[in-house]
Amino acid sequence: MDKRPIGIFDSGVGGLTVLREIIKKVPAENLLYFGDTANFPYGTKKLEDVKMFVFKIAEFLYSRDVKLLVAACNTASAAALDDLRSSFNIPVIGVIEPGAKAAVKVTKNKRIGVIATEGTVKSAAYDKAIHKTDKEVSVFSRPATLLIDYIEKGVLDGRQLEIAISECISPLVGQDIDVLILGCTHFPLIEEQIKACCNDGFKIISSAEETAKEVARILCLQNIENTSGVRASMVFFETGFQSRFLEIGKRFLGDDIKEIIRVDLGAQT
Ligand code: DGL
Repeated sequence: MDKRPIGIFDSGVGGLTVLREIIKKVPAENLLYFGDTANFPYGTKKLEDVKMFVFKIAEFLYSRDVKLLVAACNTASAAALDDLRSSFNIPVIGVIEPGAKAAVKVTKNKRIGVIATEGTVKSAAYDKAIHKTDKEVSVFSRPATLLIDYIEKGVLDGRQLEIAISECISPLVGQDIDVLILGCTHFPLIEEQIKACCNDGFKIISSAEETAKEVARILCLQNIENTSGVRASMVFFETGFQSRFLEIGKRFLGDDIKEIIRVDLGAQT
């Protein structure tokens, strides 16, 4: 029995999509969520800079005695997952491998599309993760910076968003993909709108659910589950002053999110 919390982080609201799946899968686990809204977006920054932000967050969460860390951000996973694993003596789970594995299982024609941040696309992290499982799969990746910007600003529907989705996805449709990976944790927030644009032409994989399964698997394997059966507590932190985190979080999580504690990471180091 281990009541210590799980730490989950992202550059903003995207990781809430992973948090929601974790709540469904392991409802008794206490959770700390960290949105680095002051440094959003990660996707257009150098991976080295992202790594620096990620280490500050990891240290912050580690100092609050987390038993497991979830990099609920593809860009952060691409930039720092291996280094986090070798620097902290707790399990660290990223979102790229679970999504890549799920997509390889589902594709029939071995043509997989990925929409992600510029940083994730440039890192080729999905190509590597997919080819680890199956070398014969062709991967077609597209950066989707505009969509991520809209989501973080709270634009979760409307004509403007539909146009941006279809501009981003059309070239992938032209590549005859049969699976699309939502390679940024922000995208499940507009999954219905993305589905509407793809006309059932391909399957959509979001790594949130797969990542939650991995969290449950590791907790059990390491014997660090919270078996209290009591509904868990959740605490939310962010770094930004003027973000729409609370408003978007409430739309997505309802009453599960009541307040957000502001943290100055500069002062933490
Ligand atoms: N949610 C983050 C991801 O999965 C990225 C958003 C950003 O650009 O900060 O990559």
